Amino acid sequence: MAAPRSIVILTGAGISAESGIDTFRSAGGLWEQHRVEDVATPEGFARNPDLVLNFYDMRRAALAAVEPNPAHRALARLEREFAGELLLITQNVDDLHERGGSGQVLHMHGELKSALCQSCETRSPWHGTMIERPPCPVCRAPTLRPDVVWFGEMPYQMGRIYQALETCDLFVSIGTSGAVYPAAGFVQEARAAGSRTLELNLEPSEGSRMFHETRLGPASVVVPEWVDEVLGS
Ligand code: APR
Repeated sequence: MAAPRSIVILTGAGISAESGIDTFRSAGGLWEQHRVEDVATPEGFARNPDLVLNFYDMRRAALAAVEPNPAHRALARLEREFAGELLLITQNVDDLHERGGSGQVLHMHGELKSALCQSCETRSPWHGTMIERPPCPVCRAPTLRPDVVWFGEMPYQMGRIYQALETCDLFVSIGTSGAVYPAAGFVQEARAAGSRTLELNLEPSEGSRMFHETRLGPASVVVPEWVDEVLGS
């Protein structure tokens, strides 16, 4: 098998599971603890902003208690040592890729440590809470919301993502259930453009049959093994 020249990686909640962050759809996961309609839609935010702001304030605060795991660190090593092109796309809103050492991370669903002003639409780094309605750092309006892409909203940088899927020769999906579009459709886009496709996941996902190859196991094991393979050591 020829060495890849250009790799696109998509990660999901599964890559952060071993760091202690709940996934969404596992037993006891976030979507069993909270109703999606209440905390992850613009309509839910309009209905009960306190519930939503509190939900993301708690998740943001919880980041202080978790650490990146060997899967995050292995992808950071790949960024440092891979001679070809690499685009790391994550559906995750946590900051564990960056804390694991990755410098270039495309957060297609936004970030917990970012605030979006509903008045001036500026995105600002944010580490504190929003429940007390703090002023926007730019326009001072008390209209900040979590900078997270909710259901029914357009993910970030879709043009750049589709361009990379058109030209890569290897697409790798890590720790995602393939339940949510447009991310769940990336494997088909990449395949249609002639790319090889690889899935690394704890268990078969909804999209497994669309991949050329699936390797099952915890991310902290299968991701470093795969990175060693790509880097030849
Ligand atoms: N290692 C590898 N994979 C794992 C691990 C692990 N330790 N633990 C769980 N997984 C896998 C599960 O088997 C599952 O396929 O990670 C996947 C997690 O799936 P979801 O909980 O559905 O999370 P994700 O695919 O990231 O969700 C997509 O849905 O709720 C929205 O916007 C939210 O970005 C999120 C999107």
